[in-house]
Amino acid sequence: MKEKEKIMKEQLEKIYSDASADIEKAVNTKDLEDIKNKYLSRKGEFNEIKKGLKDLSIEDKKVVGALANEITQKLESAIADKFKLFYEKELNEKLQKERLDVTMPGQFIPKGHTHLLTSTTEEICSIFRSLGFSVVEDEFAPEVETEYYNFDMLNVPKDHPARDVQDTFFTNVAPNVVLRSQTSGAQIHAMEAKKPPIRIIAPGRVYRNENINSRKNNFFHQIEGLYVDKGITFGDLKGVLNEFIRIYFGESRPTRFRNSFFPFTEPSAEVDVQCIMCQGKGCRTCSGTGWLEILGAGMVDPNVLRGVDIDPDVYSGFAFGVGVERLAMLKYAVDDIRLFFNNDVRFTAQFK
Ligand code: PHE
Repeated sequence: MKEKEKIMKEQLEKIYSDASADIEKAVNTKDLEDIKNKYLSRKGEFNEIKKGLKDLSIEDKKVVGALANEITQKLESAIADKFKLFYEKELNEKLQKERLDVTMPGQFIPKGHTHLLTSTTEEICSIFRSLGFSVVEDEFAPEVETEYYNFDMLNVPKDHPARDVQDTFFTNVAPNVVLRSQTSGAQIHAMEAKKPPIRIIAPGRVYRNENINSRKNNFFHQIEGLYVDKGITFGDLKGVLNEFIRIYFGESRPTRFRNSFFPFTEPSAEVDVQCIMCQGKGCRTCSGTGWLEILGAGMVDPNVLRGVDIDPDVYSGFAFGVGVERLAMLKYAVDDIRLFFNNDVRFTAQFK
């Protein structure tokens, strides 16, 4: 048995010196973990030898066991000491590398905002709401419209030049289906659906086959208005529109009423506002006139009322259609209508 004890002692000492050499060579915490695994873990070399203890005599067991424990402790503390050293060094390196400057400005994530045309539409609608008008639902004002609503019921003669393919976009969905050239069809939808008193506005997009320039685009936005009741006069029309202009511009802007012609109103008028770009001197935006037209309006033609079974001897009304782009241009000095549709953030971001 002495022989066995001797062999085991030698084995333990060999392991000790191997492990010590390994510890000496270790350069980081990972090396030390590996050494721990190799020698001291449950499947490590030490444990393999300790299993042999059971074959020794009680006395030998004491001696060899004590030696094994002593070696284990020595190795453990040698590893622990070095580990502490490496751990601190590695931690410092890591902190150095991942250093955070909490005072650095954060990354800015740009947030979207309402487009100028949308906010202008909302503003116009809210002014008319404050004057007693209510906004109609979309189905009262569809963008794809029949000639019936876009022209026929609005007293537009079959041979009127506005129907010409030059102006109106015809579709191939079905015969007589057009992209509406004006929001005025909403007047008919509203009068078909309700009995007077009617006091509505209908915002929406319209399409025209225009030559595009700084004032005109082939689609733009209008807000239609209609007020039908007993005893409505041209004075009411002027009063409402002047009040609207006063509230919208919030200051006195030179404006003028001009007489005009629309097949669905009689008499008819147009309203111009002095060009803000040139203060009336004449520029590219107003094509030298000093004025920009913002709306068409008039007293609803008796023929139109008759078409929707409203008796023109009992009821009268006025209608108007305002141009949203023009109103925005005049308030914010936008000198080209195309800027609204280019989606250049250098433009749009100015109107948060
Ligand atoms: N629809 C006309 C246009 O597009 C404007 C208008 C609306 C005129 C209502 C009179 C009454 O120019």
